[in-house]
Amino acid sequence: MDKKYQPFEERIVYQIYPLSFSDSNNDGIGDINGIIQKLDYLKDLGIGIIWLSPIYKSPLKDNGYDISDYYDINPLFGTMEDFDNLIKEAKKRDIYIVMDLVINHTSNEHPWFKEALSDPSSKYRKYYYFEKGKGKKRPPNNWTSTFSGGAWEKIENEDNMYYLHLFSKEQIDLNYHSEELIEEIEKILKFWLEKGVYGFRCDVINRIYKSSLKNGRFRLYEIGREHYINQDENYKILERLQNNVLKKYGAFLVGETFAINYEDGKKFKETGALDMFFEFDHAFSDQNKIVPVFKKKFKPKNLINPVLSWIEEIGWMANYLENHDQRRSVSRYGDEEHFYNLSAKALATFLLSLRGTPFIYQGEEIGMNDDKDMKYEDVNDVSAIGVTNYLMKLLHLSKEKAFKLVNETTNRDHARTPMQRNKDINAGFNNGTKPWLKINESYKKGINVEDEYKVEDSILNYYKKMIHFRNNDDVLKHGSFKRIKSNKNVAKFIREYEGNKYLVVINLSNKKIKDIREDKEILISNYENHSLNILNEYEAIIYKL
Ligand code: NOJ
Repeated sequence: MDKKYQPFEERIVYQIYPLSFSDSNNDGIGDINGIIQKLDYLKDLGIGIIWLSPIYKSPLKDNGYDISDYYDINPLFGTMEDFDNLIKEAKKRDIYIVMDLVINHTSNEHPWFKEALSDPSSKYRKYYYFEKGKGKKRPPNNWTSTFSGGAWEKIENEDNMYYLHLFSKEQIDLNYHSEELIEEIEKILKFWLEKGVYGFRCDVINRIYKSSLKNGRFRLYEIGREHYINQDENYKILERLQNNVLKKYGAFLVGETFAINYEDGKKFKETGALDMFFEFDHAFSDQNKIVPVFKKKFKPKNLINPVLSWIEEIGWMANYLENHDQRRSVSRYGDEEHFYNLSAKALATFLLSLRGTPFIYQGEEIGMNDDKDMKYEDVNDVSAIGVTNYLMKLLHLSKEKAFKLVNETTNRDHARTPMQRNKDINAGFNNGTKPWLKINESYKKGINVEDEYKVEDSILNYYKKMIHFRNNDDVLKHGSFKRIKSNKNVAKFIREYEGNKYLVVINLSNKKIKDIREDKEILISNYENHSLNILNEYEAIIYKL
């Protein structure tokens, strides 16, 4: 490997949502041993890094994004021995493990919070935000929670006392004004790095520092945000974690940074606080940014422009089209009805030819789609349930109507249905025990690993081809990036490295588009035949210039 580059610039990341990846003990819930069993699959696919969504001890109110013990594994997923084994087995295959670090909040079942709640004089009180209400009935400020409703919960046994939760009321915000808390976080980082993890994906990391608890400006979503998003001290805390711990291990850090602009993003890079970060602008290409449950007609330019602009501005991005919080990309940005495979492959070409580190979410590589038949009763997502109930109250909607709004926009369970491995019972996720979340029936129509392996031009085989191509290609891995003016539905750019130049052209629409190109060598495409004047629907081509 060229020493000039960090491993993360050389490698492709695959995100595993452990609950839904592979259930080895047939209890309905995915587990660590299930992941170990599938490492050869990931190796074959060409994956170099696994990002594991949380596997720590947790009551799973938000499926692990509510940690009750940072030093232990949730018994539903296995034991610490299983985890050590995962690290060992992954290492054998030259795959690195990245943990999910959820340090904006803990579960209400974390011993720190339990003690803080039962004993107001406890030192842990300072780890959180406990505040007196305003007057007799009002919470300390007007902030609202990302998951709907107010951001303060009143404590039962105390007079007029509240605690802060920016997410569900079981996810209690930590207070980064506390020196002792930051020391605890340093200990946690060390613990996992000593075990051999490669780094962390940091959950909502640009909101850990609240610089004031003043009322927020009125807005329809996340009132109070200006007091906690991208605050100066937030960068300083990360820099401190980098200097005291992370750099010593050469640890990799990718941040989830919701509501970020170019200036904030540059600061994260320049201060060295994060190696890279996820932006969310493109994730609003089919939903309203102010009120995300309002659907917006998808236009390819609203995906292409933000993604390319962020790369132009920042240089190296954490690129993704899906994760456990987003609906499936073929359903959002592709055309399931008329161009299922072609559109999924065009999206694959897009993701894997951009400058930056590509993040593939489990199931994306086989073109898993949203489950259109999902009912309110099927849903587990704490946010989808909370927002549905909130809309029912706020807009006086029936449950069906409220859920429809959520289901077509922000219902995260579309991405969380169990991984589809074959046509057997439960799509081969396990041996027949009812899974924790309803299976998407599309596995019966061939959207599963086993069937797609057998079909030469399947989505899976295309991903594999694209991934291996990139893994062995310096231009795509390290090359510079230059956008070329084109039709609004077409992503067109040049990648260049040491004199080698590629032209990437991707039609992300379901229409034919006039586009004139020279006759050059084609390195990869999702079509067999090409015209030099027209791009077919979802046609994607990488040319060597
Ligand atoms: C972002 C995570 O990706 C999401 O799943 C979670 O609900 C929130 N942060 C709160 O931790």
